[in-house]
Amino acid sequence: MRFLKPIVLLAISCYGQSLEDLPQMADNSTNTPVPASSEASKYVLPPLPYSYDALEPHISTQIMELHHKRHHQAYVNNLNSALDELQKLRGQANPDDTDLNWSRVFELEETVKFNKGGHINHSLFWKGLTPAGTPESTPQGELEKAIITHWGSIEAFKTTFYKSILQQVKGSGWGWLVCNIHTNKLAVATSKDQEAILAPDKPILGIDMWEHAYYLQYYNNKIAYLEAIWNVLNWKEANERYILCLPHSFK
Ligand SMILES: *[C@@H]1O[C@H](CO)[C@@H](O)[C@H](O)[C@H]1NC(C)=O
Ligand SMILES: *[C@@H]1O[C@H](CO)[C@@H](O)[C@H](O)[C@H]1NC(C)=O
Ligand SMILES: *[C@@H]1O[C@H](CO)[C@@H](O)[C@H](O)[C@H]1NC(C)=O
Ligand SMILES: [Fe+2]
Repeated sequence: MRFLKPIVLLAISCYGQSLEDLPQMADNSTNTPVPASSEASKYVLPPLPYSYDALEPHISTQIMELHHKRHHQAYVNNLNSALDELQKLRGQANPDDTDLNWSRVFELEETVKFNKGGHINHSLFWKGLTPAGTPESTPQGELEKAIITHWGSIEAFKTTFYKSILQQVKGSGWGWLVCNIHTNKLAVATSKDQEAILAPDKPILGIDMWEHAYYLQYYNNKIAYLEAIWNVLNWKEANERYILCLPHSFK
């Protein structure tokens, strides 16, 4: 079974989301000193970059609080405890790995993948929103130009983007504007379940289409939610992500 180990490690480390946006690991988020040998780094819930009521009336305070403090926190907690258990399992295993419970390891890997995905997605999502009427909340910069070149107008892009979200995201999922780092082309993408946005695509704008993101305010009226969230998209942030996708920013 020894040959399986690299696959396990790879699966955990290769989630295909925008990695420079990964919220930082904090090893001193509590006052408890962490022994250096335990590698007990924890993911932490990043604070919102605005107050819970900042997106009113478009996204209600109640939704923001539940979404951030309950849903996002749960992804973080589940991620940390699955990582802890994996580390314990591996620590107990013999060098030949024959006594490792591989079905538990694979189960935990799925848990890590799902919750890390949720953590990354939501961290991107919060940063991708801003109070309505701020300078950030209107299309701008290179991204605005590229959208107009590609779709003809911002309005035409919005129509295409929302149409594919409404047609393609049936249950829980996300709507994305992505940029291909090789061709620098923009495209609309949707995802459901566990399918990630994979390289070479990088997320520029992301809209959470899970019911917890809108149901308490908009019930099953997804169009009303999409119309509302349009007012609070952070186009400055989106433009910065787009610029990082352009060739001159390769390192
Ligand atoms: C740890 O704490 C120090 C001092 O409070 C802070 O400057 C640093 O950013 C913290 N590190 C992390 C990873 O949170
Ligand atoms: C191994 O993991 C599986 C899946 O979680 C569990 O059902 C089983 O009881 C575990 N076996 C042992 C020996 O702990
Ligand atoms: C995270 O986003 C990916 C798309 O990049 C999606 O497929 C996945 O379902 C999302 N995970 C969660 C838990 O929202
Ligand atoms: Fe969500």
